[in-house]
Amino acid sequence: MHPNAPAIRRFADPVRLARSLADDLSESLRERPALVLGLPTGRSPLPLYAELVARHRRGLIDFSRATTFNLDEFVGIGPRDHRSYRMFMEEALFRHVNLDRRRIRFLDGTAPRAGEECDRYERRIARAGGIDLLLLGLGVNGHIGFNEPGPSLVSRTHVATLAYSTRVANAGLFGGRVSMVPSEALSMGMGTILRARRIVLLATGSTKAGAVRDLVRGPVTTRMPASFLQLHAKAELWVDAAAAANL
Ligand code: GLP
Repeated sequence: MHPNAPAIRRFADPVRLARSLADDLSESLRERPALVLGLPTGRSPLPLYAELVARHRRGLIDFSRATTFNLDEFVGIGPRDHRSYRMFMEEALFRHVNLDRRRIRFLDGTAPRAGEECDRYERRIARAGGIDLLLLGLGVNGHIGFNEPGPSLVSRTHVATLAYSTRVANAGLFGGRVSMVPSEALSMGMGTILRARRIVLLATGSTKAGAVRDLVRGPVTTRMPASFLQLHAKAELWVDAAAAANL
């Protein structure tokens, strides 16, 4: 095993992974009701969000004092647009649990000055005391948030240019039309991500097996942004059997 590899938790399937992560999150919220959470969109966290909603309905989990910061949002897509990540989160989680609306934080893709919007977000995270637990998905090309592979990475929240493969992966939100997927997004930067006190990266399904192998075994490189998790003392990789196939 690579000396820097993040701690790995393996599960037979995405549902078992989601249940165990929901247990973990419930415990964290019991210990610290004012938990500051960082949240991803995408297919990977959906079983977790469904599990959290079900537990909340049974009175088993309380979000009333928690704060959330989502990782990213498309440039040019407003919070009430059905294609926005904001709306995705509303439908998957926010609308169904007792989060205080004032403590749901999101980047606004329609902010007139994107740079200022990014700075505002960094200040908001700092004012909240930093992120306690940041959940992450994983792009097939190794991106996290919208930090794409390339010759360099940006530390702070910034305007990111999306890789073509990322636009293809997000086409579902845009009626399957890649050309309709914005070419830019606002995203937490790699430094923003690495400042979280604890990180849990979720990867499920065989399409992620290559990126999972590289992030665990490969060098730390901007060509594989998720490899930077090797630099974090409390980063965990939660995978199902299909995503762990190359480990
Ligand atoms: C998008 C998001 C990422 C997410 C990734 C993986 O590009 N910006 O934050 O992790 O997709 O998505 P999925 O879980 O659907 O594979």
